[in-house]
Amino acid sequence: MPSIYFDHAATTSMNAEVIKAYVEAASGAPGNPSSLHAQGRAAREKVSSARDRFAGILNCEPSELVFTGSGTESDNSALFGAAHAQLKRGRKGIVTTAVEHHAVLHACRQLESQGFSLTILPVDEFGRVSLADAQAAIDDTTAVVSVMAGNNETGTLQPIAEIGEWARKHKALMHVDAVQAFGYMSLDSRELPIDLLSLSAHKINGPQGVGLLYIRKGTPFQPLLYGGTQERNRRAGTENVAGIVAFAKAAEMAYGHLQARREHTENIRGSLLKALTEQLGSNSFMINGHPDYRLPQILNLSFIGISSESMLMNLDLEGVSASGGSACTSGSLKPSHVLSAMKFSSERLSSAVRFSFGLGNTREEAEKTAKITATISARLRNR
Ligand SMILES: Cc1ncc(COP(=O)(O)O)c(C=O)c1O
Repeated sequence: MPSIYFDHAATTSMNAEVIKAYVEAASGAPGNPSSLHAQGRAAREKVSSARDRFAGILNCEPSELVFTGSGTESDNSALFGAAHAQLKRGRKGIVTTAVEHHAVLHACRQLESQGFSLTILPVDEFGRVSLADAQAAIDDTTAVVSVMAGNNETGTLQPIAEIGEWARKHKALMHVDAVQAFGYMSLDSRELPIDLLSLSAHKINGPQGVGLLYIRKGTPFQPLLYGGTQERNRRAGTENVAGIVAFAKAAEMAYGHLQARREHTENIRGSLLKALTEQLGSNSFMINGHPDYRLPQILNLSFIGISSESMLMNLDLEGVSASGGSACTSGSLKPSHVLSAMKFSSERLSSAVRFSFGLGNTREEAEKTAKITATISARLRNR
């Protein structure tokens, strides 16, 4: 039985060089970056060198970067940190989109329960927000705008630069969740009109449980965690030194081969789509997501008439790992809030399957998966 992993948007495996960097950083003498002795200084140097490497990738100053414990923590820190700081200036509005990851949406709901006023922007049938809607929602009372770069379920890209420009005009802070887009598109902090940016290591062949938050210099910010003075008082807690070193290695590898990485995943995606069309005919499935404004590594399809659960279970039995929605909700059978926001029919909603690609995937795997999917479809449709 093949073992084909097409769930890279959920998590990726650490690649060999990243594991090597992790093990090297975790081995040897212990060292807390806050300690003053030689071992502490050595640990501090590792974190500092990792920070410098991220500053190069994001074209920012190292002091604008805060290491966190996950993408979720980066999102929460950005939203609570910026919203509460903005409240002191009399701003209470939060603007976000209906297709954000729950790390953003649930944090925004929590802010709403604390007295902030929340506007959730709708999306079109491709999952894209309209600039006009964003412009109508953002005004001089807006504290924070949070719009993701690329969606984790559909891959659809949002007009973050245009929305960021508008937010800036109104002195609202702009946060971007780039957890899925990082490693697949250039994110230059000097070019993008954004104030806060969330990243996570485990989507780009780095370790799980490490994140990064970019906070533009001068951005009002209140920490989420209190304790020690780590990360310039913006995130208390002893740093995950080996995880941070490994994250920097993974990021460096991703951005050292950005174009190749994009082309590789785009090719696998194209191969799967082509083979599925040959095997099943293009009328047997629908593509969920924007045809042009999209990430290369995600393909979301609805196999009309076959429930997501049946398809995923049968794919799993045949050795193919895919997903029904975002990883965090795929354990439950709730229809995806992202696809629901795209106003799909219940049939299209309940039959969606996400394939997501990454390093190590091959064209042969895509073709094999198409064959397996066709066999499963025929079996389930003929029941
Ligand atoms: C778009 C997006 N934001 C945030 C997260 C959360 O990141 P983490 O798993 O590191 O907490 C994810 C994870 O799936 C994601 O896809």
